[in-house]
Amino acid sequence: MASAGPVPVLAERAVACADRLRDAEEVLLASHIDADGLTSAAVAAAALERAGIPFETVFSKQLDADEIAAIAATDYETVLFTDFGSGQLDIIAEHEAAGDFTPVIADHHQPADADTEHHLNPLLFDLDGSSELSGAGAAYVLARALEVDGGDNRDLAALAVVGAVGDMQTTDGELVGANDRIVAEGVEAGVLETATDLSMYGKQTRPLPKMLEYASDTRIPGITNNENGALRFLDGLDVELQTDAGEWRCWVDLTEDEQSTVSNALFRYVVDKKLPSRKIDRLFGTSYVLANETEGSELRDVSEFSTLLNATARYERADVGLAVCLRNVTDLGGREGALERARELLGNHRRNLSQGLQLVKREGVTKEDNVQWFHAEDRIRETIVGIVAGMAVGANGIERGTPIVAFADKNDEEVKVSARGTPSLTRQGLDLSVAMREASQAVGGDGGGHNVAAGATIPKGAEEEFVVQVNEIVGEQLE
Ligand code: C5P
Ligand code: C5P
Ligand code: ZN
Repeated sequence: MASAGPVPVLAERAVACADRLRDAEEVLLASHIDADGLTSAAVAAAALERAGIPFETVFSKQLDADEIAAIAATDYETVLFTDFGSGQLDIIAEHEAAGDFTPVIADHHQPADADTEHHLNPLLFDLDGSSELSGAGAAYVLARALEVDGGDNRDLAALAVVGAVGDMQTTDGELVGANDRIVAEGVEAGVLETATDLSMYGKQTRPLPKMLEYASDTRIPGITNNENGALRFLDGLDVELQTDAGEWRCWVDLTEDEQSTVSNALFRYVVDKKLPSRKIDRLFGTSYVLANETEGSELRDVSEFSTLLNATARYERADVGLAVCLRNVTDLGGREGALERARELLGNHRRNLSQGLQLVKREGVTKEDNVQWFHAEDRIRETIVGIVAGMAVGANGIERGTPIVAFADKNDEEVKVSARGTPSLTRQGLDLSVAMREASQAVGGDGGGHNVAAGATIPKGAEEEFVVQVNEIVGEQLE
């Protein structure tokens, strides 16, 4: 009998899923193209490899009826879906009934109206799929159940945490619930380190003034988006900003004393500026560090790692991201040059995000009673329009208190929709997963996701009617 695993309520299902996979001659592993999807696939791939189960991996932008039909047309009798599958269970169950394949699903999205025997999803056990367990976390629970003699797969916890943070599952700067149990296993296994630290993006790779200037999760008046302001703030402190060789120092290059100096000064600064305490709290949190990665590498910081992964798979280079994830985990990942290639892709991704954000700031959003929206047409890639929408919230004129809906062209016939809310809105009843599904189905499309972040695909030309529908549904939810 296997141990209870990191998430006891899921253990029984996990064991059944693992047993089913062990019985398979060969498995098709299908996963999503974002950071969580890539890490999900990496965790599953490593566990399958270690268990001696042959498999092949494919990635998909969006698992829809056509994609599932294409999977059904292959010779694989067992298909392992990670980070998607639950939302498409209605379609998957039909294929299962027709004998096309046996599905095993490790996911955290809102399930469609159907179920199957080998379905591992936190939402089936009253755990929150947008904050307590990610796709990579679900894959990790499965990997733990797939343990073999001499290996318990706990080292894969590091990748599971990258997935959870990549999916923005932190609550007030920390991972909670089942995610936190995975953190604990990773710490025990020596692959993760946690500390209370400044919670800003870029601690490993951004020059200190840039880290402060670009930190936008919590806007610091006079520093955020203010190059001179950030430099002025640092100049007053007893901390060298550059090395003797003239290179900018990053947060991780500072000594502990220097880090305290900056943290304390920042704390005094924001108190002086009368930032509300809720916002001040958000400046500090738990940092999650991959202990086996080199200091100063983006792979050491879970957030920077996840951005690097988004820079690959969202640009049709999931192979690169997967190879980076598997580098230190199995022989599968030993591909020469994957990290270098990922870094090149990262430069491109950054440019696209920054241009996308400028576009939204320049053109603004259209306000309805209950939602605000913009249409990027072909000017933002549909695979990153959701990230841009999330980043735009809080910028000039784009309110935090109203869900944002973003459109981008998918192809000549279809439009991609991404919607983002906030935890405070979901506490008031907002469920974007339901809103996206119902509004898209009303106009001949389909969608789903999480209460706080969801998406859809709709026919081109249906945007106006779609907005009417979403506005109405969200209005009812928030009533
Ligand atoms: O498909 P998947 O579940 O991996 O994607 C989750 C998406 O939801 C991510 O793009 C993530 O950034 C977004 N999200 C968010 N805010 C949250 C939770 C998730 O924007 N609180
Ligand atoms: O693509 P985007 O980042 O906006 O997706 C937000 C969330 O909605 C993700 O969890 C994604 O898997 C989900 N989604 C979905 N069906 C769609 C589009 C997105 O379930 N058609
Ligand atoms: Zn996910």
